Amino acid sequence: MTSFFVACNEPNPSFETSSSSIPSGEELYALHCASCHGESGDLGLSGAKNLKKSALTISEIKAIVKSGKNGMPSFRGILGAASNIDSVANYVSTLHE
Ligand code: HEC
Repeated sequence: MTSFFVACNEPNPSFETSSSSIPSGEELYALHCASCHGESGDLGLSGAKNLKKSALTISEIKAIVKSGKNGMPSFRGILGAASNIDSVANYVSTLHE
């Protein structure tokens, strides 16, 4: 059950292979979130909510990403800069259909 958490919890993710030095929301999502939520948001591993169906606002998404909720760990320390939290939250809002 904790294996996802460990895989998502690398302290210093390197973005050197990405095309830009600032990781996009999509890259951050693929790196940190897709392991539970899936690339399109509906994988649902470890009880992860379906992000395609989630109707949260960007600020509600950011609050959950920062603090975590139940089975979801806090990503504040992992994503680091507030701008990374902003971009991943913006990306999550695009998954909603
Ligand atoms: C270890 C697995 C795991 C990872 C990794 C993970 N999540 Fe979650 N996520 C969950 C679980 C479990 C929930 C359900 C929490 C609850 O009980 O409400 C959740 C809920 C959410 C919700 C709330 C959806 C709703 O409608 O209530 C959002 C938004 C979310 N995750 C975004 C993210 C983002 C963005 C990332 C990457 C930064 C991420 N998650 C990484 C497991 C994970």
